[in-house]
Amino acid sequence: MDKPKLSPPIHVGVIMDGNGRWAEKHGRNRSYGHKAGANLIEKVSKIMFASGVEYLSLYAFSTENFARPKEEVDYLMNLLKTGIKKYGKACFDNKIKLTVSGDLNALSEELQSVISTYVKKTEIFEKPVMNICLNYGARQELCHAFNHIIESGISSVTPQDIDNALYTKLPPLDLIIRTGGEKRLSNFMLWQAVYAELYFTDVLWPDFTEEECLNALEWFSSRKRRFGKI
Ligand code: IPE
Ligand code: IPE
Ligand code: MG
Repeated sequence: MDKPKLSPPIHVGVIMDGNGRWAEKHGRNRSYGHKAGANLIEKVSKIMFASGVEYLSLYAFSTENFARPKEEVDYLMNLLKTGIKKYGKACFDNKIKLTVSGDLNALSEELQSVISTYVKKTEIFEKPVMNICLNYGARQELCHAFNHIIESGISSVTPQDIDNALYTKLPPLDLIIRTGGEKRLSNFMLWQAVYAELYFTDVLWPDFTEEECLNALEWFSSRKRRFGKI
């Protein structure tokens, strides 16, 4: 596996979209697509971390995804529970810090307990960080942060105060990859995305190969980031 030659993004966010359409394309139900998508996470994270990425935020379930049929939500929650157990162990073995961003109170006690087990087990590590966005919404995260700030009594808010009050302390996103063809953020890390490079691909998430992943990293390294300067 060749590493991209230029400097890698420090924080990458992935909107893993297209599982349902992938399943439909294969004449199967949506669950089949979600399972295929979940199976990809370990491989993609390995490639990212081996390429020098330090923080990887994966959008696994949005706040709005709770509006899907109960059967699909239940399936996804179950898949997340199994996935976090399995992946949490792998994180520990590979010295990866696992964090989970989102409104976790709304999840089942069983899922909350699995999350807390592996988050605690891996909190001894510093980097790389695998951040799973689960029942995550950027607007909800910002409200959570603002409420926290109000409670702390700060009267004049700085960007730093907001950074510190988010679900998980992370650097800003350098690169956002969205699979599945849609060109939107769908409530994903709006604050952290402020200067992110946006990479959209028509490839459906379960078809996102090592080559696709390296293509995205290579595309990133060709971007000229100006941050408002000339
Ligand atoms: C992304 O795939 C996974 C989740 C949102 C949980 P989708 O389920 O949105 O797949 P499409 O967009 O319907 O193909
Ligand atoms: C975004 O995909 C959420 C995740 C990938 C978890 P959606 O499929 O929910 O987004 P929309 O509804 O097409 O905007
Ligand atoms: Mg979708």
